[in-house]
Amino acid sequence: MKFFIDTANLDQIKEAQALGVLDGVTTNPSLMAKEGISGKNNILKHYVDICSIVEGDVSAEVIATDLEGMIKEGEELVELHEQIVVKVPMIKDGLKALKYFSDKGIRTNCTLVFSLGQALLAAKAGATYVSPFIGRLDDISTDGLNLIAEIRHVYDNYAFDTQILAASVRHTMHVIDCAKLGADVMTGPLSSIEGLLKHPLTDIGLAKFLADYQKGN
Ligand code: G3P
Repeated sequence: MKFFIDTANLDQIKEAQALGVLDGVTTNPSLMAKEGISGKNNILKHYVDICSIVEGDVSAEVIATDLEGMIKEGEELVELHEQIVVKVPMIKDGLKALKYFSDKGIRTNCTLVFSLGQALLAAKAGATYVSPFIGRLDDISTDGLNLIAEIRHVYDNYAFDTQILAASVRHTMHVIDCAKLGADVMTGPLSSIEGLLKHPLTDIGLAKFLADYQKGN
């Protein structure tokens, strides 16, 4: 299972990278705005800065919502760095753009996916990643994890290559459950990864080992 961090904050990306278990980064226009990054040139530079910190894939989202605009932006984004994956929204022109990029060998991440039907379309269009937003489904009393299970089942039925990137992961149990369900990737905040480290018996056991060592020295 790949671990991506879902942020545009360079300090958090560096911290996650230092853990040694980071496989990539996802961003979106809201995450960029949260870091105060605005204006096309600043945003493009920020993507390059992120790529220089991590070794894996970095999703960069198009802003255009028409086919021509998405293609233009996507082609510009992939020129920035070899790690860039073009993030495209699940709308009609987005679907066409996914197919266009896939035919050209440009890697894509289909975002804002909330149903099995949308995930099926993304796979048929040749998306590299599909991003079901599990937290936002949970927010409206709909089981986000169930969508991961459904997509896994259908993708396996037809041996689709598209990787399931569980997005809008909010906490550590989301990570654990996505792993159990066979998501290929999860993207979440640093806290969702660091939470995996924690167990009280580890802390108690370590304290005892250290205390016993001190007794003998
Ligand atoms: O990866 C998708 C993500 O950025 C959305 O997360 O927490 O805003 O639903 P959230």
